[in-house]
Amino acid sequence: MCGIAGYIGYREAYPIVINGLKRLEYRGYDSSGVMLYDGKEIQLSKTKGKVSDLEVITNKEEERKKGRIGIGHTRWATHGVPNDINSHPHVSQSGDLVIVHNGIIENYDSLKKELISRGYVFQSDTDTEVLINLIEEVKKTEKCKLGKAVQLALTSVIGAYAIAVFDKTKPNELVVARLGSPIAIGIGKENKEFFVASDASPFIEYTKEAIYIEDEEMAIIKLGKKIQVRKIQNDALVNHNVLELQMSLEQIEKGGYDHFMIKEIHEQPKAIIDTYRGRMLPDQGMIKMSGIDDHLSKFLHADRIIIIACGTSWHAGLVGEYLLEEFVRIPVEVEYASEFRYRNPVITSKDIVIAISQSGETADTLAAIKLAKSKGAFVFGVCNVVGSSIARETHAGAYTHAGPEIGVASTKAFTTQITVLSLIALKLAKEKGTFSESRFQNYLRTLELIPNQIEQLLNIDATVKEIAAVYKDAKNCLYLGRGFNFPVALEGALKLKEISYIHAEGYPAAEMKHGPIALIDENMPIFVIATSKGHYEKVVSNIQEIKSRSGKIIAIVTEGDTQVKEIADHVIEIPETEEAFTPLLTTIPFQLLSYHIAVMLDKNVDQPRNLAKSVTVE
Ligand code: AGP
Repeated sequence: MCGIAGYIGYREAYPIVINGLKRLEYRGYDSSGVMLYDGKEIQLSKTKGKVSDLEVITNKEEERKKGRIGIGHTRWATHGVPNDINSHPHVSQSGDLVIVHNGIIENYDSLKKELISRGYVFQSDTDTEVLINLIEEVKKTEKCKLGKAVQLALTSVIGAYAIAVFDKTKPNELVVARLGSPIAIGIGKENKEFFVASDASPFIEYTKEAIYIEDEEMAIIKLGKKIQVRKIQNDALVNHNVLELQMSLEQIEKGGYDHFMIKEIHEQPKAIIDTYRGRMLPDQGMIKMSGIDDHLSKFLHADRIIIIACGTSWHAGLVGEYLLEEFVRIPVEVEYASEFRYRNPVITSKDIVIAISQSGETADTLAAIKLAKSKGAFVFGVCNVVGSSIARETHAGAYTHAGPEIGVASTKAFTTQITVLSLIALKLAKEKGTFSESRFQNYLRTLELIPNQIEQLLNIDATVKEIAAVYKDAKNCLYLGRGFNFPVALEGALKLKEISYIHAEGYPAAEMKHGPIALIDENMPIFVIATSKGHYEKVVSNIQEIKSRSGKIIAIVTEGDTQVKEIADHVIEIPETEEAFTPLLTTIPFQLLSYHIAVMLDKNVDQPRNLAKSVTVE
């Protein structure tokens, strides 16, 4: 969690750092701060609240914005409540060293006691202030430069970090390091300027050249020099290729929409095309996925597939379970990464683990991958962020190519993850012979229609808005679905909870009678997915049960449905497709519904309270 943005070069650093922090607010936004150095003095501005609150402070004094070196931070609190003092950057006792940090120093307490015994006094409750003073202490006792001090200090740190450190006595350099949290370094022409950030979005308009340092590496960034990357443990030099960034500025801006979430909802047709482009080749009757092709025999001879993920990605994983079992006839288990990593799971080298993550940085998923690898499993990643930790940690994988997802509530990440899982299931079904050629072809052609169908479905926005207006004041909601659409019910409920703070539960429709039915009365809106091929008659019976208890029914049905229309209070139609692909459609009305309800309730849609886009802590 937390976002880091920094600059060193010939331009004014303030606008670069502040705009960078705004782009990184999806990582955390309970407090923020910036340090500028104008060649004489360190200017520190920090506050509880968002980057816009920080700007109120900096706008009062032009001095606070001056300098060609700057580091900034947007925080998601771990140690110490969000307040002005705990906000980053943190300054060392001498006032010379300044740090921004993303992560957790687990042994901060013992380090702090040691530093207190050596005369250090702490202002904040943070682990970060401990780290900067530890670096200062090492620098003093070892009489070394900042880079060496950071390296030595980090060898005694347990935890996770991405840090950027500035030393007033050597103002032409920045030192960054990472373990478990990402750091990208943008490189300006002839090394005349450098950018550091938690991802490349803060510097995309300035340079397309970047390097991503790996875990347990640090980089010494000096103006006019090539970046020096070293291993933290043994100080060995590491060679990193400079990457050409593909991201464009347009991709990370709102493009005329009020919020990123609604922009990303509307981007889904294109995102899904990007996901299957070059992979799904109906004319050649095949699916090409190098991550699978290169390890095909492993997939064909696997005893079982275990899917690990968190949150929305876990819901996509559940859809994956239905797809893979139905298409490939292979046993699949879906696990919360956070549970899996701590329960000593039984895994063998004949298991394939599929790890799903939009950000590719989720700490629990990353730890679960490492555990699965240590037990001999082959791990395949499904990630959106190229070059992310999970993408690098897995043996092979497939990117979703959804483009940057900025809204904290996942939308296009979910549908593109399902698209990748559909491609994998279809490919394996063909290779394994569980699908006939004609069935395979038919499914391919059907999947190809989905982006257009979503485009068509997005036209229901006005209808969904009307429904949102009716139910926006509900205190509790129930989401029901069966089979392929049970995970969509879970996802629909999660979307509503996340951004409108209305309590919602997702349930398999038939489970309703085992408990949740007790909640139903005339105040309870119940969103039911009743697609024509998805145990339709059974779901209709469930709808009848709700009706006879006076619950309000909002049903998602297949075009042309007549039966449910007669019973439900509101009906939303989705275009006809194979049942296995309906989650790609049924989820759209739920995304729109939660969006409109949150807007009507005046909630912060893109940055809901207490959440962060990538959860890089346990
Ligand atoms: C989705 O709306 C959530 N914000 C959250 O559940 C998210 O899906 C989860 O934290 C996993 O993130 P990842 O896909 O980046 O690993």
